[in-house]
Amino acid sequence: MSIVQDAIQAVVKKAVALAPDSWIPGGGPDPLILHKHGLIGAPVSRIDGPLKVAGQARFAAEFPMEDMTYAALHYATIAKGRIAGIDAAEAEAAPGVVLVMTHQNAPRLNPTPPFMSQPKAGGGDSVPVMQDDRIHWNGQPVAVVLAETQEQADHAQSLIRVKYEAEAGVTSMDVAKAQGPEPGLFMGEPLKVEIGDAEALLAAAPHRVDAAYTTPRHSHNAIELHAATVGWNGDELYIHDAAQAVDHVAWSMAQVFGIEERNVRVTSPYVGGGFGGKTLWQHQILAASASKLAGRPVRIMVTREGVFRIVGGRTLTQQRVAIGAQADGGFEALIHTGTVAMTPHNNMPEPFILPSLSAYAARSFKLNVETVKLNTVANTFMRAPGESVGTFGLESAIDELAFDLGMDPIALRIRNEPEKDPISGLPFSARHIAEAWRAGAERFGWEKRNAQPAARRDGDWLAGMGCATATYPYYRMPGGAARITLRQDGHATVSISAHEMGMGTSTAQTQIAAERLGLSMNQVTFAYGDNILPGTVIAGGSQQTAAIGGAVIAAHRKLVPELLKLAGNDSSLAGLKPDEVGGLDGGLCSLDDPARCESYASILTRAKLDEVTVEADGSEPLETQHWSMHSHGAMFCEARVNAITCEIRVSRFLGAFDCGRIINAKTAASQFRGGIVMGLGLALMEETQFDERSGRIMNPSLAEYHVPVHLDVPEIDVMWTDEPDPHTPMGARGVGEIGITGVGAAVANAVFNATGRRVRDLPITLDKLL
Ligand code: MOS
Repeated sequence: MSIVQDAIQAVVKKAVALAPDSWIPGGGPDPLILHKHGLIGAPVSRIDGPLKVAGQARFAAEFPMEDMTYAALHYATIAKGRIAGIDAAEAEAAPGVVLVMTHQNAPRLNPTPPFMSQPKAGGGDSVPVMQDDRIHWNGQPVAVVLAETQEQADHAQSLIRVKYEAEAGVTSMDVAKAQGPEPGLFMGEPLKVEIGDAEALLAAAPHRVDAAYTTPRHSHNAIELHAATVGWNGDELYIHDAAQAVDHVAWSMAQVFGIEERNVRVTSPYVGGGFGGKTLWQHQILAASASKLAGRPVRIMVTREGVFRIVGGRTLTQQRVAIGAQADGGFEALIHTGTVAMTPHNNMPEPFILPSLSAYAARSFKLNVETVKLNTVANTFMRAPGESVGTFGLESAIDELAFDLGMDPIALRIRNEPEKDPISGLPFSARHIAEAWRAGAERFGWEKRNAQPAARRDGDWLAGMGCATATYPYYRMPGGAARITLRQDGHATVSISAHEMGMGTSTAQTQIAAERLGLSMNQVTFAYGDNILPGTVIAGGSQQTAAIGGAVIAAHRKLVPELLKLAGNDSSLAGLKPDEVGGLDGGLCSLDDPARCESYASILTRAKLDEVTVEADGSEPLETQHWSMHSHGAMFCEARVNAITCEIRVSRFLGAFDCGRIINAKTAASQFRGGIVMGLGLALMEETQFDERSGRIMNPSLAEYHVPVHLDVPEIDVMWTDEPDPHTPMGARGVGEIGITGVGAAVANAVFNATGRRVRDLPITLDKLL
């Protein structure tokens, strides 16, 4: 903790810079922005690291329960139709089997509220879970086996025989498109924008690119498999889940089972990766249902194949990007349109136009996402939904245009920097992308790039450089709330129903709370991952840090007047107003006169209180109504392509980010790198192979669905502007998703520079270059 303690000392020196105020419209920035040399920004190692290394961090499938049973699922093999008969006799007679549950004996349930249909709806789809004989997709669970051991359950499910009556399902894009596309709606907003006559301006522009870009389905492959340990106590349901939205799971389970929300307890202290996939899918519902039937607790850990079958991923996209430009590169028209697949039972069109909404200025825009419906597992959120694949189209097209113009692609991007949000007209809250480009280009050695493709050869290898813009919005969703309990010994517990999925939330939030309260790291406990804690804070949309930050500010605003009141007239703080004091050195101090201080311990001791507790809701996220708020990045890739085999290796990668204030230099760097690694998978290997005849996913394993391994990943350099955003808590915007954005295009652009070959279809595999 010595770095931390040093940091605390530094905070003390900066204390006079504390200025109480508000980041919301009309107010000033959060005072924590000014703590430049304190805990904010320090590269603190994860506080949960030692527990994980020692195997003491308990994940969802590791909670012991008395009299436990183990579940295995049996999946449908047709895309649409009905179950004509299930023969479970052999499975029921197999060793250790407790029961087999099918639609014939499953408890009656209400439909699952799908995500975005209501504030706390968390379902990946709305299909009734094992309520009838209908099959909606190839892979839908049709039976659950409970047994005394996992191995017995797995074996018994293989003995189940199901007869199907198949109907013609929609399993091909051509058939789905022939049925007529529908408008895309994302979070209630139409995915359609038209400003000016973009087609006419495109046609009249002296320079233009107009191309089709396609991206495939991607499946969620967090290292921790989807899992839950579930039990009932009368009408009370307990779930140890792997979740990034515990309140959504709890509320939705209550709807499904027709019980009170307060009778559902969902904990999720550790999650081995979420990425948008760790929400509510059939397995938690089936486990709770089977547990009810058996009268015993159930542990379900979905197999790797099972995750491909029942957890949706990113859907495919077919994009058109057309840009018309003047000779100096100024955009006359920006067109980004196309079609994505979804299902009749979900709500999630892949919003690939999102990056085109704010990245560039243009005289006219035509942006549109249309959807078609297939009988497949419901697609869902996957790290930077929209931007991950949308930047592939947009940023590849910009590279193509730059080549056509004979312009440096960075210069072309800077030429089209918008002064304000090009669609909404709102001012940007903070935008330092030009600085990220400048610093990144210098660090990467961009000036060594030869603009002529296929001009650099090193033995059998062609080498090239490419770049792309990364972008992801700032969000802060409503529903944040926090409780602060300050004990007489000066220890604080900050409680909030938020999540740690491996990204460092618990560490970063401890840093922030400690800094705000003027405590050391080890004087603060951050309690999270439990739906009975205050607030509804989803770990998604890269918004958790802001949502927690906003809630803690609100709670702290309640705590300070409470403490001043308790301190009373005998304190050296007497007469000071709440906005004249700040947390410092284990107590409250005057902002103007650091000598006027009283420790928390002294205040509570004199007040004869063991502890003081406050709870508050975070303010409404008004900042996003007043400013256009986005994180930005400049991505640089060096790729080497074998001239004979066309094997592609990424040899260097740099991400230069502009994400506001960085809270923890170590965990943020890991988020950026992790996003870039996932982006390399998107660029070069990830593809859910889908049999359009049967609707079956054909590669449901990590042996056949390729993700980057160590040998695929070069050294990844990351850097950031660290320019605080004055309109967010702590000055921070999100860092969880931006790292994956822009990577696909940066790689494609580097491959073009290396070879002169333009690949517009992900993943960029060697067959596309041969
Ligand atoms: Mo993320 S796709 O919002 O977990």
